[in-house]
Amino acid sequence: MTDTAPHKRKALQTPADLALLGAPPLFAVPRHVNRPHVPDKAAFDARINAAWERRWFTNDGPLVKELEQRLCEYLDVPHCVLMSNATAALDLTMKALGVKGEVILPAYTFISTANILHIAGLTPVFCDVDASMALDPAACAARIGPRTGAVVATHVWGSPCDIDALQEVCDAHDIPLLFDAAHAFGARHKAHRLGRFGRAEVFSLHATKAFHTCEGGLVTTCDSTLAKTLRRMRNFGFDPMGAVECAGLNAKMSEMHAAMGLGNLDQIDATRALAQDVHRAYARGLADLPGFILKLPPAAEENNHHYVVGRINAAEFGMDRDRLHAVLVAENVLARRYFRPGGHRCPPYIALTKAAGLELPQTDALCNDVLVLPGGAAADPADVALICALIRFAHDNAAAIAPPQG
Ligand SMILES: Cc1ncc(COP(=O)(O)O)c(C=O)c1O
Repeated sequence: MTDTAPHKRKALQTPADLALLGAPPLFAVPRHVNRPHVPDKAAFDARINAAWERRWFTNDGPLVKELEQRLCEYLDVPHCVLMSNATAALDLTMKALGVKGEVILPAYTFISTANILHIAGLTPVFCDVDASMALDPAACAARIGPRTGAVVATHVWGSPCDIDALQEVCDAHDIPLLFDAAHAFGARHKAHRLGRFGRAEVFSLHATKAFHTCEGGLVTTCDSTLAKTLRRMRNFGFDPMGAVECAGLNAKMSEMHAAMGLGNLDQIDATRALAQDVHRAYARGLADLPGFILKLPPAAEENNHHYVVGRINAAEFGMDRDRLHAVLVAENVLARRYFRPGGHRCPPYIALTKAAGLELPQTDALCNDVLVLPGGAAADPADVALICALIRFAHDNAAAIAPPQG
């Protein structure tokens, strides 16, 4: 990719300048929500060359071991088990814990959790979220019953969910609490980085995440038995001597993936600072814009700033989220409407939702009004200014852009 410059040289003047209404797009090349951050190339090459020389590419190699060790230090957690992705990691964690029956999860999260449960023969029990967009502890408590086998809560958009309240609910019923920490690498809860809470936390290290290994997953836990079991389960159930100790899959991380992770970990603090600058640039660019409510972490919270998330109040903004999304996409700003339509409304689970007469108003509202903008360390601050100007222009000219009625 070479052409990263915008197409339109002159400022937007009339609605006819919008790509949605036929003009050329603002950006020649799409701007994605979370373009992968890349580490220092020479350091990456050196690690790959060393693996090449060793001819050791997978099966618990030295780079995977080094990354696990450094992650234990960075996250200050006793056990880090790297896997091929977060979906396999959460699946194996639930199997390792022997979870059965129903599992409570927020409906406002990525669909992978519900799918893991469904495929494993467990029943996803969708629950509403609260104003923080994360699993509502009171709603969670209300859905616990005799068949509840676990709760899986998401630290959505990098903010820790209400860990203490959820732990209290789960302790009262002696149910394991797991966290989907896919969005939240590096975030803190009180004095500690996420990673040591619940029975285990599962991070996605997918290329679009704040810290990544191209594809990858990470289970962190203070439970040494669980960590040992997961090490077996990610490698077909083999113990270090090659005897099959339990049922397992192939969910190993390769040395090439670990090399990417080590390079990214070298730069993690600088990456976070870049992402924070981008987040702040959006906060400045969208300040006081009626109907665009940017979700900003509380000042005291250490967030990774990887996600730029807004809610659109259609009445105040002048058009609804979907119309604004169409305006942006036409300009090659590939904003995303996560996590519509909500797990409880996705095809495999609709029947369950209907049978239970489930109403999840907070989730439905978020699915209708959340918009995620291109952010993170790899976003260009010059783009942020153009995107904010575009959103302001859409608001100022909403009447001319809104779709025809009837
Ligand atoms: C909240 C959440 N959980 C889980 C996942 C799945 O992660 P992976 O792609 O590593 O399996 C994602 C991926 O985007 C996610 O956003």
